[in-house]
Amino acid sequence: MTTLTALPAWQALQAHSAAVRSLHLRELFAQDPERFNRFSIRLGDLLLDYSKHRITAETMMLLLDLARQADVEGWRNRMFAGEKINTTENRAVLHVALRNRSDQPIMVDGADVMPGVMAVLERMRQFSERVRSGEWRGATGEIMTDVVNIGIGGSDLGPLMVCEALKPYQRTDLRPHFVSNVDAAHLTHTLAHLDPARTLFIVASKTFTTQETMTNAASARVWLTGALGEEAVAKHFVAVSTNAAEVARFGIDTANMFEFWDWVGGRYSVWSAVGLPIVLAVGFDRFRELLEGAHEMDRHFRTAPLDQNLPVIMGLLGIWYRNFLGASSLALLPYDQHLHRFAAYFQQGDMESNGKSVQRDGSRVDYATGPIIWGEPGTNGQHAFFQLLHQGTELIPADFLAAAESQTPLGDHHEKLLANFLAQTEALAFGKTESEVKAELQKRGLSGEAREALVPHRIFEGNRPTTSILYRKLTPHRLGSLIALYEHKIFVQGAIWGINSFDQWGVELGKELASRILPELQSDKPVTSHDSSTNGLIEYIRHLRQP
Ligand code: F6P
Repeated sequence: MTTLTALPAWQALQAHSAAVRSLHLRELFAQDPERFNRFSIRLGDLLLDYSKHRITAETMMLLLDLARQADVEGWRNRMFAGEKINTTENRAVLHVALRNRSDQPIMVDGADVMPGVMAVLERMRQFSERVRSGEWRGATGEIMTDVVNIGIGGSDLGPLMVCEALKPYQRTDLRPHFVSNVDAAHLTHTLAHLDPARTLFIVASKTFTTQETMTNAASARVWLTGALGEEAVAKHFVAVSTNAAEVARFGIDTANMFEFWDWVGGRYSVWSAVGLPIVLAVGFDRFRELLEGAHEMDRHFRTAPLDQNLPVIMGLLGIWYRNFLGASSLALLPYDQHLHRFAAYFQQGDMESNGKSVQRDGSRVDYATGPIIWGEPGTNGQHAFFQLLHQGTELIPADFLAAAESQTPLGDHHEKLLANFLAQTEALAFGKTESEVKAELQKRGLSGEAREALVPHRIFEGNRPTTSILYRKLTPHRLGSLIALYEHKIFVQGAIWGINSFDQWGVELGKELASRILPELQSDKPVTSHDSSTNGLIEYIRHLRQP
């Protein structure tokens, strides 16, 4: 038994879960008219309604005990204090410093990181203003109309998701593009409609060694210099990285490099210079509002009592389903087209952080850790995978997110969107009983065997848990706080599971093997170095590629 599963709260939750399994949300709501008030929290206009969860007051009490016994507060304080809680890389975890809008210092190794953070933000502001005002000119004297961010994972998904989310704040004459996949289709199709003389490339890579990014950057440089000559690189390429030496080696002047630090994890780097495409797209003031929104959530996470603490509550609910009710995935369902990359972003955020099977000390866990994160915006998902949410055999908790006000009002679209949001969470929770189905069919004139045959197909069991997250409008501020909410939720869960949420060794093996396989694909010598399947596949690809 591990330390976690031996905790009294864990044991108590295990016993308690047997009783809760048989409860239905129908009964829980019927028994308590105050359920919504009891199980919802507000932070400004942000509302977290967790009343449609399979929990009782006792469940929450035991989960909060678990958070205390697993020292969530201690781990949270260690993170904010700049302790090296990413032990396998001997690094602090301080994305909160990037959005620290207070005048409090944040220390790493005895030094305040805030002056460095503010200096890079100021450089981002100045650079973005030069580009946006047209003062920054390309090699032929043209203004920039297109910004292509070349990066992958944390150096792509964050700025991409935020640029999409903040589309209403963007100008139409400076367009962001994102190239991540090493599949040439991505770069080729992106560049197809761009004019080299008006295109600015941001090469974003924490390490500046990532194969996909370096390959795309090299090909982009060939495209640019083919049209404008070698000297054009200085005016058309900037870099975002922690690795000045590699940036210089690539041929980008380090004067055009925006720095960040090893205490910023890739998947938590959107607040750093990795956010440069956002600043270019929506302007520095909007980016500052994004940081302020995140900082508001940081303060809340740090100071709110655990039972009123949004990330803590969300984290605990995730633990409840994953470890005590057997759910293996979580659906993120924003009823907000602007958030159409939100689930993709938190697939990395959550799964790269908590997809671990050893504890901090290297011993194996004997409990489930990070869930599978997936999702699509509503209402599209309703016409795709919601069938399984409603009537499938998997228990899939889901987060529903929506703004009360549309950023793009048009007729009654937004009311229809919200009506669907509400209808789905209601249907998932309460379903439709056998007697309701029978009465409905009866009303339609069906009776006897024909009716009986249909009944089981039309029953909705309900009792399918959802969290509703509502806010007034998807402003940069609100978006910042939403992202920070999920980041801290992931933190809470990692702290309880006793894992290091800030390394990602699981992605290394594939990278190593790919670099071994590349020369084998390019050669015509027999391949014998792998298993028979991999050898056979390599040979077959080579056979198919023969002229
Ligand atoms: O694939 C793993 C990973 O290291 C991610 O953690 C990271 O966000 C991504 O690759 C990109 O890394 P880099 O910014 O160093 O190019």
